[in-house]
Amino acid sequence: MRLTLTVNGERHVLDDVRETESLLYVLRERVGLTGTKNACEEGRCGSCSVHLEGLLCCACLVPAAQADGQRVRTVEGLGDPEAPDRQHPVRRAFLEAGAVQCGFCTAGMLMAAEDLLSREPDPDEAGVRSAMSGNVCRCTGYQHIVDAVLRAAEYRRDAAAGDPGPEGPHAARPVPQELR
Ligand code: FES
Ligand code: FES
Repeated sequence: MRLTLTVNGERHVLDDVRETESLLYVLRERVGLTGTKNACEEGRCGSCSVHLEGLLCCACLVPAAQADGQRVRTVEGLGDPEAPDRQHPVRRAFLEAGAVQCGFCTAGMLMAAEDLLSREPDPDEAGVRSAMSGNVCRCTGYQHIVDAVLRAAEYRRDAAAGDPGPEGPHAARPVPQELR
C-alpha cells in the first residue's frame, strides 16, 4: 500500500508498505527517524511514544495503515527547526536534572512529558508521576525524571511569560532544592 504521513511537518509518501507494519517500524525503517525507540513492541514500556494527530500513543501499537494521512510528531520534532541552537525546554530540563542515563527510555519520556505539559502547564508531582506511569525506565529510579518534568514546566511557564531567565534562554540553572 501507499502511505502518506506528515512527520514533524515534513510530508512523506511511502510505497510498498505492508499491512503488518507498525507506525514504529515505518518511522524507524522507512522514514529513518530512529530517535523513537523499539523495546517491548507490546505497548508496555512507552519507549516508542509519539504524538499522532496531537495525541500521545505507542507507535508500536498503531498499524501504519491507521496513520495514513495523519500528522506525527516524534522526538526529533521537539524543538524549533528555525532555531536549532535553542533547546526545547523539556530536552533541556532532562539534561540539567540528570534524568538521562542509558537514554533508551528518554525519547518516550520526552514525548510523554511534552504531552502532559501541553495539557497541564503546572502539574504537581503526583500528576507528573501519573502522566509518566506508562513509561518505563530501567536506570534512573524515576525521581530525576519527575524533577525534570517539573523543571520543564517551569521553563515553559517562563517562556510563556516572556521571561528567558536571568541569564538568557540557554543558561543552565541549578536544580532547585525542592526538586531534588
Ligand atoms: S516498544 Fe512500544 S510500548 Fe514498548
Ligand atoms: S535512562 Fe536507561 S532506561 Fe531510562
